[in-house]
Amino acid sequence: MINEKSYELGNKRSSIREIFEYAKTRSAEIGAENVFDFSIGNPSVPAPKQMNETIVRLIEETPSVLLHGYTSAQGGKDVRDTIAGNYARRFGVPLLGDGLYMTCGAAASLTICLHALCNAGDEVIVLAPYFAEYRVFVEGSGAKLVVVASDEQTLLPDFSALEKAITPQTKGIIVNSPNNPSGVVYDGETLRRLARLLTAKSTAYGTRIFLISDEPYRELIYDKETVVESPMRYYPDTLVCYSYSKALSLPGERIGYIAVNPYMVGGNAVYFAICGAGRKLGFVCAPALFQRVAAACDGLTADLGVYKRNRDLLYNALTAQGFTCVYPRGAFYLFVKAPEGDSKAFCERAKARELLFVPGDDFGYAGWVRIAYCVETEKLERALPSFALLAKEYGL
Ligand SMILES: Cc1ncc(COP(=O)(O)O)c(C=O)c1O
Repeated sequence: MINEKSYELGNKRSSIREIFEYAKTRSAEIGAENVFDFSIGNPSVPAPKQMNETIVRLIEETPSVLLHGYTSAQGGKDVRDTIAGNYARRFGVPLLGDGLYMTCGAAASLTICLHALCNAGDEVIVLAPYFAEYRVFVEGSGAKLVVVASDEQTLLPDFSALEKAITPQTKGIIVNSPNNPSGVVYDGETLRRLARLLTAKSTAYGTRIFLISDEPYRELIYDKETVVESPMRYYPDTLVCYSYSKALSLPGERIGYIAVNPYMVGGNAVYFAICGAGRKLGFVCAPALFQRVAAACDGLTADLGVYKRNRDLLYNALTAQGFTCVYPRGAFYLFVKAPEGDSKAFCERAKARELLFVPGDDFGYAGWVRIAYCVETEKLERALPSFALLAKEYGL
């Protein structure tokens, strides 16, 4: 007998993938230029030129057997030292390479952390709206997913609801800022408040509650007053899950890392558990060439100006048309309220105008939709009149 749960997961596509596949079929029917696919968070700007140059240089200068050979299970020491040094300078946290574990992107970072921390019966809190795969990752680790809705006005954590949801079984909380699907960014005060709550609760229960900070969009911020801080500064039991997928526009190359807070008491044991979980899951030795590329290009980004332009264009147009939108300070998603409250009906009506986006139900937040604006600006501009017609249909 095969594993039923795995069969179910493999047999049923996520609705984001469903819409993405529909977009392909529809494009074949009416031409890709006439389908406005805002379903998926695939970076639309090219990777920085220096990245391709780095790949070529590495291939030319490094002996093949060394370049493509196994590295240490946790990643090359020089790679980890370089990335940790950059992190320390940027965020003012004394991270060392020995606290870093290279992974195949944020998905691997998250699953490894969850397997490293959780035992059967543990609970892991996520804040809705949340990245839909969290459910798969948390339940796959044997833990129970506990969903807490964010504050309705701001989509920042609802601290009173969160306080009630924390129990002696709470092993961790996953936070994601800049957020997919809302684009909301947590400021320093929010992180400090979260740290105070987790400290108070773990002290009261005599437990440890880990903060798992999922940060694939860390560099994707658009206003100079938006500052991204490291939660490690405020809460010792923090694990950062990072990915180069979005900042460097290389989601298919699968490279990222886990960083264990150097301020964590017993951090060594947690690091060993991470190495063990990586081993258990077969996530050892992340892609060797791209470990080196990541170290050489850490701190660079693709041209984020395109996303900022798209963000401004879309947010300004849709709010002017009468839609209610959350102002996205980061990532490349706009979260829009379904005019009559039914997100699925809204997506269907939009689909009739060849506008494809995802109902918030998939992110644990019905009544809203997610529009991924990582598309060509020209295409976004051509889509705006269809949004205007949709607004009229709803009488906005
Ligand atoms: C919030 C969030 N976490 C994790 C991931 C997975 O990232 P990766 O492609 O690096 O595995 C994504 C991908 O879209 C994401 O949006």
